[in-house]
Amino acid sequence: MKNVLVIGSGAREHALAWKLKQSKNIGEIFIAPGNAGTELLGKNVNINADDINGLINFAKNNNIDLTIVGPDNALALGIVDEFNKVELKIFGPTKQAAKIEWSKIFAKKLMQKYEIPTAKFETFTRYDDALTFLKKSAFPLVIKADGLALGKGVFICNNLKEATIALESVRTFGKKVIIEEFLTGQEFSAHALCDGKSFKLFPFAKDHKRIGEGDTGANTGGMGTICPIDGPTDQIHEIIEKTLWALKQERIEFSGCLFPGIILTSSGPKVLEFNARFGDPETQVFMRLLDNDLLEIFEAVFAKKLHEISLRWKKEFTTCVVLASRGYPNSYKTGYEITGLNDLDENIVVFHAGTKEQADKVVTNGGRVLSVTATGVTLKDSLTSAYNNINKIDFMGRYYRQDIGLTRVKA
Ligand code: AMP
Ligand code: GLY
Repeated sequence: MKNVLVIGSGAREHALAWKLKQSKNIGEIFIAPGNAGTELLGKNVNINADDINGLINFAKNNNIDLTIVGPDNALALGIVDEFNKVELKIFGPTKQAAKIEWSKIFAKKLMQKYEIPTAKFETFTRYDDALTFLKKSAFPLVIKADGLALGKGVFICNNLKEATIALESVRTFGKKVIIEEFLTGQEFSAHALCDGKSFKLFPFAKDHKRIGEGDTGANTGGMGTICPIDGPTDQIHEIIEKTLWALKQERIEFSGCLFPGIILTSSGPKVLEFNARFGDPETQVFMRLLDNDLLEIFEAVFAKKLHEISLRWKKEFTTCVVLASRGYPNSYKTGYEITGLNDLDENIVVFHAGTKEQADKVVTNGGRVLSVTATGVTLKDSLTSAYNNINKIDFMGRYYRQDIGLTRVKA
């Protein structure tokens, strides 16, 4: 029996723990720091995702056989390298491999060098040079901060005035800047599980990143997902293959989940960004559809034997709708009781994110509060079911998008 430590506190981590719980050889599941949902599946451990020493000590003292990392910041801090140094098994890329996410400039330059399709771009380290470039540019264009910026580092600018304001905000991040071509097309999420030798593609999922209906308003971590959607499988396979090969040429082995955000332009799919981890809320829908034993998959990654496994997916559709605290992704209030969680249809699984238990009640404790997932024989069935059940769940300030999966469901 294997004891597992899942690092993070979102619905992604709840979904991973939920699926692991169904594994044949699962022992104890610990989640650090977890939430009110993960507490029902295993034991929450009060250690933050970026407290690497604390997590190593915990893993050593509690016979943890493998650790799964959810959030990007822990990877960027080098959690995998540190666990490896003390010979603790951990799923995720090294700091160097995760650079494909934590430095957009690194990712863009890699794509340019190895001809992986992406938006044309220029990089700048000096504000004045960027401004001079903007003054002779055509709009719209996109300005991006180099490092991790919690989704707040990307600005789509329609004119010089907007671009100047964006440049100022990027400067406040104290980071280098990318100015790139504005692309149009359907966006979707591709995920590939990689063991350093081979990889397996997941089905494609459609995220809904903006806070407002009709894809308006601020960018968020993600407000809902549907899966599967159609997409150019062969071309995405080629993009992943080329990227892993490109990293190898740079002496970087990627083991973990490689997750490019793709935009399907009139000249084919292009990479908007790379993530070096599982998506949130994408993981919530994947875990509902995956038919394999998740622990066996992680074991295969450690053994570099992913090629011996075939991933099996239920022949269903899944919808995930995120319930958030009104005000997210800006300021919001927490501490409100959540009701109705125990009165839901059989095909519904609710994954917790910003929740905690307080005096025997589950209360809100973050921006994204819950991920309501529903399976269905058709996409429409899963959508209808998700929304019907959302009506039964309530908390003060509950906000969700009512148009998840309703527009542009084909990639
Ligand atoms: P990123 O974090 O780089 O994926 O950017 C966040 C969002 O900004 C993406 O999901 C897109 O909607 C948008 N975006 C980023 N880059 C571009 C681009 N070059 N053209 C159009 N939209 C973009
Ligand atoms: N859902 C997008 C992300 O995890 O970055």
